[in-house]
Amino acid sequence: MTRKKITIIGAGNVGATIAQRLAEKNLGDIVLLDIIQDMPQGKALDIAETGPLYYFDFKITGTNGYEETKDSDIVIITSGVARKPGMSRDDLLNINVGIVKGVVENIARTSPNAILILVSNPLDAMTYVAYKISNFSKNRVVGMAGILDAARFSTFIAAELNVSVENIHAFVLGGHGDTMVPSTRYTTVAGISIEELISQERLKEIVMRTRNGGAEIVNLLKTGSAFYAPSAAVAEMVEAILKDKRKILPCAALCEGEYGIENLFVGVPVILGAKGVEGIFEIRLNEEESNALQKSANEVEKLCNKVDALLGL
Ligand code: NAI
Ligand code: 2OP
Repeated sequence: MTRKKITIIGAGNVGATIAQRLAEKNLGDIVLLDIIQDMPQGKALDIAETGPLYYFDFKITGTNGYEETKDSDIVIITSGVARKPGMSRDDLLNINVGIVKGVVENIARTSPNAILILVSNPLDAMTYVAYKISNFSKNRVVGMAGILDAARFSTFIAAELNVSVENIHAFVLGGHGDTMVPSTRYTTVAGISIEELISQERLKEIVMRTRNGGAEIVNLLKTGSAFYAPSAAVAEMVEAILKDKRKILPCAALCEGEYGIENLFVGVPVILGAKGVEGIFEIRLNEEESNALQKSANEVEKLCNKVDALLGL
């Protein structure tokens, strides 16, 4: 079996933690790239030196250039600026469009067959940038957000009911922003809808906390945003792809009519396997859920219009 190669662009909080998680999961050779001189090399060496303790011997390379990333199977893009208190994810748009565009141009040249996983914010718009710039087929461009939002939703529900998080199956749709749609109807605890177990009033508060989950961490950290849970969410996607699991996970995927959404990357349940996004899982939504998803898609569309203007598309 040939070794898989995974490149991570941006060796900051999220990128470096992804590298560590992937190494510990023994998923393949890892290349960590950043524009800061020596920093990715230092972090890669540090992670490689955990190999004898965690029993992995895949290669971990730090670099400032694209030569080492050549022919990657998966490229994860975390480069860009993160939020500070008072900033929304959308405030990052102008600067991150330029960064993601430059990165994707390089990757499309050096790893033309890769699957791209976007992490940089605002997530849905950055996934759109990657799709437009790379010209890759839609199954090979996907954004990470819904898994993180669902993990936050699950954490809060488990705490509320004082039960194991393992029993919780949370369901979140929509863009990775304040209008995301955590579905209380489809979120279950041991197969039972949480609407049967938690009062409407408490559910509203838990949904609100989930929507503000990113800001809650930013306000506590003060100097940046979350990275432990985001990196774990990316690792789950990489594992689903490399092990061809065909796992249903909420990810930002190109909708072309699914859920009534046209030509936008929005968080929907996808089947993630060796080819990347192997399908979008469509479930029936009630009117309220459908309206909330449409509202969220409208917000993503506004950002994509700004992207088009910035990129002259
Ligand atoms: P960070 O500031 O710790 O790391 C970003 C890294 O990107 C820095 O090391 C920087 O030098 C590097 N970088 C900047 N321009 C680059 C370029 N052209 N090429 C290569 N590297 C470049 O930020 P952090 O916390 O790692 O977050 C990264 C991004 O991910 C942010 O935009 C953040 O908002 C987003 N994010 C998204 C999440 C999601 O759910 N989709 C979750 C968490 C973070
Ligand atoms: C989060 O939700 C910053 O988008 C990132 O934590």
